[in-house]
Amino acid sequence: MKRLTYISRFGRELSAAEIDEIAATSITNNQRDGLTGMLFCFRQVFYQILEGDEEKLDKCYARILGDPRHKDIFCLGIEENISERLYPEWSMKTVNLDLDSGSTIDPVKRILDALLRNHQILKAYTPTPILDAIQAGKDPRALTVRPEEKIILFSDLFSSTTLTEVFPAAEVNRLLDIYYGASIDSILGMGGTVSKLTGDGLMAYFPASLADRALEAVLHTIKRLKEEREMAAHADILRFLFAGFGITAGKVLVGNIGTISRLDYTLLGDAVNSAARLEGLTRRMIGGKQYAVVFDQNFQQKIQEFPTRKLGRVMVKGKSQPIDLYAPDRPDVILPELASQLKEKIMAR
Ligand SMILES: Cc1cc2nc3c(=O)[nH]c(=O)nc-3n(C[C@H](O)[C@H](O)[C@H](O)COP(=O)(O)O)c2cc1C
Repeated sequence: MKRLTYISRFGRELSAAEIDEIAATSITNNQRDGLTGMLFCFRQVFYQILEGDEEKLDKCYARILGDPRHKDIFCLGIEENISERLYPEWSMKTVNLDLDSGSTIDPVKRILDALLRNHQILKAYTPTPILDAIQAGKDPRALTVRPEEKIILFSDLFSSTTLTEVFPAAEVNRLLDIYYGASIDSILGMGGTVSKLTGDGLMAYFPASLADRALEAVLHTIKRLKEEREMAAHADILRFLFAGFGITAGKVLVGNIGTISRLDYTLLGDAVNSAARLEGLTRRMIGGKQYAVVFDQNFQQKIQEFPTRKLGRVMVKGKSQPIDLYAPDRPDVILPELASQLKEKIMAR
């Protein structure tokens, strides 16, 4: 048997009658499937413990995950191969803590409240593979370093140092919010993982099979940044919102590094350095043009849906041989003249 515990937030305002309805469906289905457990609700939060046959429980949890009456569902733990139930008597004992108060209930409410709040905070800071491991009931500290083929993407804002010197902090913050909002949404939307935010840039990776999706994420971000620049008023910092993107594909080591008191889940290897250096090439003129995104042959070979163009052979730091450099063959990746003179233009604004 298996036991699963999760916490979630109401998807919308739910009346006491609607909660009763969830309880009634749960009892009927769980009696049929031999599942037992508890469902607490309080201040728009659900906390549920479900236990029973593994296959039946997985099917039930799949239905629960797709239920729009709640959202932000976070599995707190899975216990496999349990031999005894905690709640053998209850098909689904539902307790609405909002209707109860008292010296025993109030501390429980406070604990559950703190659990959800802390979880929401930690979620924003935690790498997706770590959250996925916790969701699957595994200990993420056991994720040892292993070799994997990945697509690696680096991005950096142009002239961020000058922007911070010239514009007030609140304005720089606004620009960063828009840059990170556009790039992170696009990366996550295309199946990528954001590995690190570097202050004025980021590192992300995609499964090796998602080369076209990775490029699509970058093209989408470039489009969003252009729209923001075009919408910006004359004095607005967003006129200067430019970023470069470098992409490669290769074998890297993925997993936990550090010690048990301070762990980081990250990627290591030559391909990571190459992606960072490729990103640096977006500051250079290549054949009289400056490109917002460039990549090497390793990545180019994986692209199927987008036409690409060889820009030439260039020397990059850390490599003894020149590399073939590519960009998507489309005009929207060529940066306007403003980008090449950005520093001067920001200073003279
Ligand atoms: C917080 C919450 C807990 C739920 N718990 C259960 C449950 O324990 N068992 C169950 O069958 N359905 C549960 N549901 C309902 C399922 O999401 C789904 O609506 C239901 O299983 C569909 O059953 P039906 O196909 O018989 O209509 C829960 C829903 C919510 C929002």
